[in-house]
Amino acid sequence: MAPILDVTDLRTVFHAEGKTIPAVDGVSFHIDKGETLCLVGESGSGKSVTSLSVMRLIPPPGEYAGGKILFEGEDLLRKTEKEMCAIRGNRIAMIYQEPMTSLNPLFTVGMQLRETLRKHQRLSAREAQARAVEMLGLVGIPDPGQRIREFPWQMSGGMRQRVMIAMGLCCRPRLLIADEPTTALDVTIQAQILDLMRRLKRELDMTILFITHDLGVVAEMADRVAVMYAGRIVEEAPVRVLFAKPRHPYTRGLMDCIPDPGRPRGQLHVISGVVPAPDRYPTGCRFHPRCPYARPLCAEEAPPMRKLGASSAACHFPLGTEAAS
Ligand SMILES: Nc1ncnc2c1ncn2[C@@H]1O[C@H](COP(=O)(O)OP(=O)(O)OP(=O)(O)O)[C@@H](O)[C@H]1O
Ligand SMILES: [Mg+2]
Repeated sequence: MAPILDVTDLRTVFHAEGKTIPAVDGVSFHIDKGETLCLVGESGSGKSVTSLSVMRLIPPPGEYAGGKILFEGEDLLRKTEKEMCAIRGNRIAMIYQEPMTSLNPLFTVGMQLRETLRKHQRLSAREAQARAVEMLGLVGIPDPGQRIREFPWQMSGGMRQRVMIAMGLCCRPRLLIADEPTTALDVTIQAQILDLMRRLKRELDMTILFITHDLGVVAEMADRVAVMYAGRIVEEAPVRVLFAKPRHPYTRGLMDCIPDPGRPRGQLHVISGVVPAPDRYPTGCRFHPRCPYARPLCAEEAPPMRKLGASSAACHFPLGTEAAS
């Protein structure tokens, strides 16, 4: 099956103070139709820049310095802005972390939904109203005919996030990009929203690129996982394989950071150091200064992505292989 999204060697750079900042630096991944791919990694690893690149929403002075983004076989990096406008919202939609910054407080939820619908699809005012109510019902908002008249600030955080999802999905996109859509919510609401997204994915036959730094969310949502570190993907595997047998020491480090109630207090594992800034990436493997298994080669040569059973990892000495022992 041809992937719905196939990204090859994507490079997205920013220019600031005379420096070039390679925020996304040779990223390749694909998503098959109907699949949920989770992109995980610490803050600053380049997850949002990757997703904004796919939407072609990198603000200047950012630019695409190379690579291909094939969506249903068409290279998005070769599209004109006008062509992208027809794709955004219609065939690819995006939902963000903080609904309050994406919804306009001055307009009712209904006005915003109707505007989105009418912008992307040729609907009459009456059709748009009916569809907006239907969408609010679909995302589990009780009494949608009534609540469509409310302003975003009259709603709870969970309800607002449901509205955001309704806005994202109202034109029935084939690909939904969700960038940390539940990070600002408490855990019970988060569970409801994840549940909703899984249901809608089935009902609307969607493919999802789900961005998160939360491995609990990954376990709930992903079919496959790509782990990002310092502008690159360092490991990629089906979700069960990744959790059962992480190959990259960074993936293992992320997993060790999950709090374990059985562990004595004060022994929360952390990966030492921080993600390096994009203008100061180390030589060789970018994780080597933080890696407990690093050897001299790791500082010298960047490891290529290599296949290891169902996984791929960019490590000279992948865990669980002879090279590591
Ligand atoms: N407009 C910009 N100008 C300059 N640098 C930028 C810009 N946007 C992002 N960056 C840099 O690119 C790198 C990747 O940022 P990105 O937002 O993709 O991280 P992230 O993985 O989404 O992190 P988080 O988990 O915090 O959302 C960061 O170092 C960031 O500072
Ligand atoms: Mg981000």
